[in-house]
Amino acid sequence: MKITIFGTGYVGLVTGACLAEVGNEVLCMDVDRDKIDRLKRGEIPIYEPDLDKLVARNAAAGRLSFTTDPAEAVSHGLFQFIAVGTPPDEDGSADLRHVLAVAATIAEHMDDYRIVVNKSTVPVGTADRVRDRIQEILARRGKVLEFDVVSNPEFLKEGAAIDDFMKPDRIIVGTDNPRTAELLRVLYAPFNRNHDRLIAMDVRSAELTKYAANAMLATKISFMNELANLAEKLDADIEKVRVGIGSDPRIGYHFIYPGCGYGGSCFPKDVKALERTAREAGYEACLLQAVEQVNERQKRRLFEKICDHFNGDLAGRTIALWGLAFKPNTDDMREAPSRVLMEQLWQAGARVQAHDPVAMNEARRIYGEREDLVLADSPMEAVQGADALAVVTEWRVFRSPDFPALREKLKQPVLFDGRNIYDPAILRGMGFHYYGIGR
Ligand code: UDX
Repeated sequence: MKITIFGTGYVGLVTGACLAEVGNEVLCMDVDRDKIDRLKRGEIPIYEPDLDKLVARNAAAGRLSFTTDPAEAVSHGLFQFIAVGTPPDEDGSADLRHVLAVAATIAEHMDDYRIVVNKSTVPVGTADRVRDRIQEILARRGKVLEFDVVSNPEFLKEGAAIDDFMKPDRIIVGTDNPRTAELLRVLYAPFNRNHDRLIAMDVRSAELTKYAANAMLATKISFMNELANLAEKLDADIEKVRVGIGSDPRIGYHFIYPGCGYGGSCFPKDVKALERTAREAGYEACLLQAVEQVNERQKRRLFEKICDHFNGDLAGRTIALWGLAFKPNTDDMREAPSRVLMEQLWQAGARVQAHDPVAMNEARRIYGEREDLVLADSPMEAVQGADALAVVTEWRVFRSPDFPALREKLKQPVLFDGRNIYDPAILRGMGFHYYGIGR
C-alpha cells in the first residue's frame, strides 16, 4: 500500500520505517529541509537503537523515501499519517498548530479519496477539527472530495520504539466509518502476533485512550514515589514494598519503580494536557493534578537529600552526575530529572561533572559551554575529585561499577541513588554513605 507520513520525529520515522519493512511504499514528508537532506544521506536525526539500520535497509530497497514537497506527499499515499509534534502551550494544553497545518496541506493538494490517520497525541475532538479544516479548504477550492479522519494513537516507548511498533500490545483505531476500519485492519495485519491486536472504536474514545494510558502509567509512578517518601519517614524500604505489592497480579510489577521522577516527551505533557481538557469540559481532575504535583516534588528530592547531607553548604562543591537522559537508551532530555537537579545545584553554587552514554551532545545543545558543567568522557572521569555522586538515570553501564575505584576517586564516599539500582547494605558495607529513594 502507499503511505505518506507527515513528520519525521520519533513517531513518524519509526512508523514510516516499520510500515516500509513489511512491504509498503512509504514517503516521509517534513518541512525541515535540513532534516530531510540528512535522512536522504542516511543520517538519523534521533537516537533510537537499530532505527538507522531499518531506515537504510528500506531506503535501499526503494520502499522508503523522503521529501519536502507537499504536492508529492499528498498525491503519494492513500493513507496520510499525521505524526507531528503537539508541544504544550503555556497553559498546558496541546498546541495543535502543526497538526492543523498538515491537515491544511492535505486539503490544498488532494485530488482523490484520502484516509487521514492521526498518530500525534491530541486532545479529544481534534479529529473533528482536522475534518473541519480539510472541509473548509476543499470548499474554498471548489472541490467535493471524500475523505476520512482516523485516530490511531501511538504507544511506542523511546529506546524500544521499533519493537513496540512491530509487536504492539494493541493497535487502537478510532473511526466512525466501518469501511475505513477494514482498510486499517489490512494495513496493520502484519503486526498482529498470535491474535488480532486491533481494537476499533469511535474517534473520541480512541483519542482519550492514549491520554488514559499515559495518565494511568504516570499515576502508578507518582503513587510509588509518594509511598517512597512515606517509607523514608516510617523507616521502611520501598523496594521491599514494591516487590510485595507487585506480586498481586491486579497491581503487577510494571511501572511501580520509585525514583527521582518521570520525565520525557509524553507523561509530563500528557498529564497536564488531560487535566486541562478536563477543566475545559467543566471537570476538576483532582487526581491528575496530584500526579503532576507529586512528580514535580519528586524531581527535587535528590537535591534536597544532597543539601541535607552537606548541611546546605554546596557553594564550591562538585557533584558528579551519572545519567542526563530522562531514561536509559535515549538521548532525550526533555523534562529530565537531571535538569532540575543540575539547575538547583548551580543555583546553590555547586559545579556538576556529568557523564551520560549518549545524551552529552544534547546537554551541550541545551546548556552550551558553562564553567559549572563538565561533561566527562567516562563515568569514572565524572567522579574524579567530586564531593558526591548522584545517579539519575539507570543506564546499564552504571549498574555494576568498580566500587573500590569509585570510592578512591570521590573526595568523600557519598552516593545518592536516584533510581535505587544499588543494594544499600552492600554499599554501606563498603564504606559509602548511601542514600536511595524511599529506603
Ligand atoms: C511513555 C509510554 O510508556 C509510551 O507508551 C507512550 O507512547 C509515550 O510515553 P516514554 O516516555 O518513552 O514512553 O518512556 P517510559 O519508559 O514510559 O518512561 C517514562 C518515565 O517514567 C521515565 O522518566 C522513567 O524513568 C519513568 N519511570 C518509568 C519511573 O520513574 N518508574 C517506573 O516504574 C517506570
